[in-house]
Amino acid sequence: MSLSGIVLVTGGAGFIGSHLAAALAGSGARVRVIDDLSTGHLENIEEIGRDVDFVKGSLNDPGDLKRALEGVELVFHEAAIPSVPRSVDNPLETHRACAEATFSLLVAARESGVRRLVYAASSSAYGDQPTLPKSESMRPDPLSPYAAAKLVGEYYCQVWARTYNFETVSLRYFNVFGPRQDPSSQYSGVISRFTAALQSGERPVIFGDGEQSRDFTYIANVVDANLRAAETTRGIGEVINVANGQQTTLNQLLDTLKKITGKTEVEAEYRDTRVGDVRHSVADITRAREFLGYESRVGLEEGLRKTIEWWKQSRFAKSV
Ligand code: UD1
Repeated sequence: MSLSGIVLVTGGAGFIGSHLAAALAGSGARVRVIDDLSTGHLENIEEIGRDVDFVKGSLNDPGDLKRALEGVELVFHEAAIPSVPRSVDNPLETHRACAEATFSLLVAARESGVRRLVYAASSSAYGDQPTLPKSESMRPDPLSPYAAAKLVGEYYCQVWARTYNFETVSLRYFNVFGPRQDPSSQYSGVISRFTAALQSGERPVIFGDGEQSRDFTYIANVVDANLRAAETTRGIGEVINVANGQQTTLNQLLDTLKKITGKTEVEAEYRDTRVGDVRHSVADITRAREFLGYESRVGLEEGLRKTIEWWKQSRFAKSV
């Protein structure tokens, strides 16, 4: 990537943001991270600490935002409160962290001369659209405050491209997983929850009958898509699915994890379906192939193995 300015990763101390920051720093870019550490951890950027400039602050604070954007050419906007159930419990918090923060960032980024912003959009935008796989031409149908707030951010990105000629690319991530995804909250992503439960000898909880499906996407694929989105000439002002392209039910996911960990005797505990939960999700990744030259390079099982290896030497394993 040929850059003369700084690259800003919002939410860069979080799960996805920290992987992206590491890849950028590794490629020689000058990287700055802004994070309010509400769900991120400094530990996530410990290894690259010397190579990145860290701003502890909020996108909703004009002073913090100005400081973060100084000299910035390219922004990867990963900051969010990434949870459907948390948004159901606290919609205002999600609105501020996802919709409002994206709006403030777009206003300030344009004013400060940023060249391009790559936005972490969400597959939750599709809701329960019955046609599978889900492709970008479908009408969005958000089912939760999280989905709505993420979609609002996406609309603003599109409008900034159309109205102001400001380059944006929205990547609709499908259920991202991998090392550093924090399993410690009731709101954490399902793969991190299942891994932690299996490794600590607890019963994994399945909400509903476990026949709902997701397109689980390994983090390295998402980083790769972002680096491509920074350079694309075809994806500007567009929405692009980023996924593995494979549909997996939760029951299948748990079986695979049990096989990999050798915990074949563990039985799940089934509880009520979560409010706001999408039933089926799997992506059509044709557009990502065409616009970004993207392919899913790490599949589900390989990604799960890497995630478990990481978990075993993480602070979460040590606290069991
Ligand atoms: C949604 C989005 C995803 C986004 C994420 C942010 C969809 C299809 N996906 O993920 O793109 O990145 O929000 O958080 O909308 N579950 C259990 N047991 C658990 C935890 C979860 O059974 O311990 C179930 C959930 O009810 C759900 C599935 O696992 O059916 C996945 O849940 P989760 O990992 O929280 O992600 P989504 O809500 O699908």
